[in-house]
Amino acid sequence: MLDDSVKHILHHTRGLTLWLTGAGISAESGIPTFRGKEGYWRVGSRNYQPEEMATWRAFQEMPDEVWAWYLYRRGVCRGAEPNAAHRALSRAEQRMGGRFLLVTQNVDGLHLRAGNTLERTYQIHGNIDFMRCSRECLPAPIPMPDGIDVTWEKGRPLTEHERTLLKCPSCGARGRPHVLWFDESYDEANFRFQSSIEAARLASLVIVVGTTGATSLPMHIGTIAAQRGIPMLVVNPESNPFSGLVRRTGAGAFLEGTAGEWVPQLVDLLPD
Ligand code: APR
Repeated sequence: MLDDSVKHILHHTRGLTLWLTGAGISAESGIPTFRGKEGYWRVGSRNYQPEEMATWRAFQEMPDEVWAWYLYRRGVCRGAEPNAAHRALSRAEQRMGGRFLLVTQNVDGLHLRAGNTLERTYQIHGNIDFMRCSRECLPAPIPMPDGIDVTWEKGRPLTEHERTLLKCPSCGARGRPHVLWFDESYDEANFRFQSSIEAARLASLVIVVGTTGATSLPMHIGTIAAQRGIPMLVVNPESNPFSGLVRRTGAGAFLEGTAGEWVPQLVDLLPD
């Protein structure tokens, strides 16, 4: 149960509530987290870690293998269902409208499938159901082509027809997954970088769910909140840099446990 200090924070929240989610909110939907034991990806005789595969460099060296990895993971994401925490965030947006904002690192698309809108959901690492032109000639990411199987057997290579479908419909260059790679940078157009920073500067409350804080923009959001002295509620089975910020500032609380356990309770107590 939520203690009185958390209930007080929620009850007196006016203005914008910024939700920041990571892979942990999708763990209860059966999608492996990044730094869990999701394990490696085998290419030929070598095992690759996600940090090696999710790079522009790997895509240049072995585009078909990188695509096969993403298409397999896309199948895992499409095979999963939004869970109670995703559904609670959809209810929160319906109730709070412009006072709700969701910044997610997840590329699995489960927040949108739960009912959150693209307008109030900043997918700062992209979305596995979308692709871009590798020459960036398109004005915006486009949905993955219909002719690409949604379920993808681990290790299955691309067919010539699938390679053709994965080309840019405008200039014919290779398409690439609309996902932020480890050797690439955030920007506003594709990843809402400036908008996310602006939201952190305006928020009255930041709620961080299911992330290690291993990437820069989420930690930047947490640091801005701490510097502004606004309360931060941190939901995670383990302590992490965000709970460390709360411990140092004394503003907010660390709610030890899972997203499914805490997020619906938090949403129910937030004022409309
Ligand atoms: N409920 C809430 N949190 C959970 C749950 C759960 N049921 N299960 C695990 N967690 C927490 C873990 O304790 C961990 O802190 O979720 C977090 C998952 O951390 P990561 O796997 O590092 O995922 P994330 O923080 O989202 O990674 C950030 O790094 O690898 C890149 O771009 C990739 O978006 C990813 C980013």
